[in-house]
Amino acid sequence: MMKHALSSRVSSFHPALFCSVITLGILSLGANSYAATGAETYQQVCSACHATGLNNAPKVGDKKQWGKLIKEGQAHISADGYYGVGAMPARGGNPNLSVAEFAAAVVHMANQAGANWQNPDEAMLKTINERLATKHAQANAKKT
Ligand code: HEC
Repeated sequence: MMKHALSSRVSSFHPALFCSVITLGILSLGANSYAATGAETYQQVCSACHATGLNNAPKVGDKKQWGKLIKEGQAHISADGYYGVGAMPARGGNPNLSVAEFAAAVVHMANQAGANWQNPDEAMLKTINERLATKHAQANAKKT
């Protein structure tokens, strides 16, 4: 439903305009089935904060900040980031990002601070999704 509304909006724009507006570039990720690589997602979505450390976002290449996160573990920080934590918006602010795309961008950042993580396989995605489900359940429980 939402995806449909987005793609019809996007296709009514002129391609040149389309390229010049960052948010539309982000929307285009969801308008087709192309899965971005971790590096691409990082450039398009995450670098806005994580390249400079905006709002205390852990800065790419900062081994102290990322060292702590790497210790917390791949599934843990991928799920927390996807869900949203502190000043970090859910999915980095792009609602069209899949868990796999988001987690691949996390791999891209963690590896630049010395981790040797792989793009999530089925088992890793399952662990991330389980942690996400737990977080959603906890948030719902708080509301009632
Ligand atoms: C609007 C700014 C912003 C954008 C865009 C953004 N982040 Fe973040 N991110 C933050 C901030 C701020 C934190 C620190 C949150 C805290 O610990 O309070 C953070 C923390 C994180 C963490 C650590 C989570 C944890 O468990 O502590 C991960 C992983 C992460 N971001 C991944 C990403 C990825 C991947 C993207 C792109 C898809 C992204 N971020 C886009 C601001 C951003």
